[in-house]
Amino acid sequence: MITPQANYAVFGNPIKQSKSPAIHQAFAQQLEESLSYRAVRVEHEQFEEKVRGFFQHGGLGLNITVPFKERAFALADSASAAAQRAGASNCLVPQREGGLHAANTDGVGMVRDMVANLGWQLQGRRTLIIGAGGAVRGIVHPLLSERLGSLTIVNRTADRAAELAHRFSSTELTLAAGGLEAAAGGVFDLVINATSASLANEMPDLADIQLAPKCCCYDLVYAAEPTAFMRWSAAQAAWAIADGLGMLVEQAAESYYLWRGQRPGTEAVISGLRHGLMAG
Ligand code: ATR
Repeated sequence: MITPQANYAVFGNPIKQSKSPAIHQAFAQQLEESLSYRAVRVEHEQFEEKVRGFFQHGGLGLNITVPFKERAFALADSASAAAQRAGASNCLVPQREGGLHAANTDGVGMVRDMVANLGWQLQGRRTLIIGAGGAVRGIVHPLLSERLGSLTIVNRTADRAAELAHRFSSTELTLAAGGLEAAAGGVFDLVINATSASLANEMPDLADIQLAPKCCCYDLVYAAEPTAFMRWSAAQAAWAIADGLGMLVEQAAESYYLWRGQRPGTEAVISGLRHGLMAG
């Protein structure tokens, strides 16, 4: 009897640059499992239909990327706390009893990269997030679980930052929010760039802030060369600086675990991708 291959995919638009197929194949190889994982460009008006069709045809798990994460959350039958708080899902898991479960592994992936891979301590940290788009929605809930000292969200469009602060306001932590100038004079131990400015090799027009002596700076974007934010961080004498390549691999590892119950190692996969990036 021929067993059909376990079938996974990432849905997005655009999708060409996706590294997810290579990452999941590397995980499967490491764990001596066999699966197929495709990157699929989905037309905007067909998203829900394509998701349902994928699972009806035996699909075992989907990653969802821009611009469909909110719609993935909306079509699921249940959701994790992180996905609920974000109102967005990057990982759909079919349930044994039927229906789809929406998870959000982006923030867990980022926190795991910071804590387990980079050895950063998050507890008590005065944290600044720059940006208030979709990427930020995914990371706030897991960050708050790390018992930060404070969290400030600033954004070029101040209203979007205020909206997010309202969405994530918690009993344990008061979130501050405002325009990019709202961080002026602040002292921070952790600064996260979650804007898409790095993709245009630009640094957000941030007010003067002070980096505390052991300040860590993290860009959600990754690239072969240090991003504009990473170069800015170096000029500010940040203690540690990282890009989001580890987060990409860690969110994939968490997805793999949710689908297959096995947690792949990530170190070799991250360094393999880094080599690939450097080699162009
Ligand atoms: P993503 O899913 O990557 O978060 P998004 O939802 O389009 O994408 O959000 C992009 C974020 O980057 C926003 O916070 C955006 O600021 P605005 O809300 O004011 O648009 C921010 N951004 C993009 N380019 C920027 C730049 N050059 N300077 C500062 N912020 C920038």
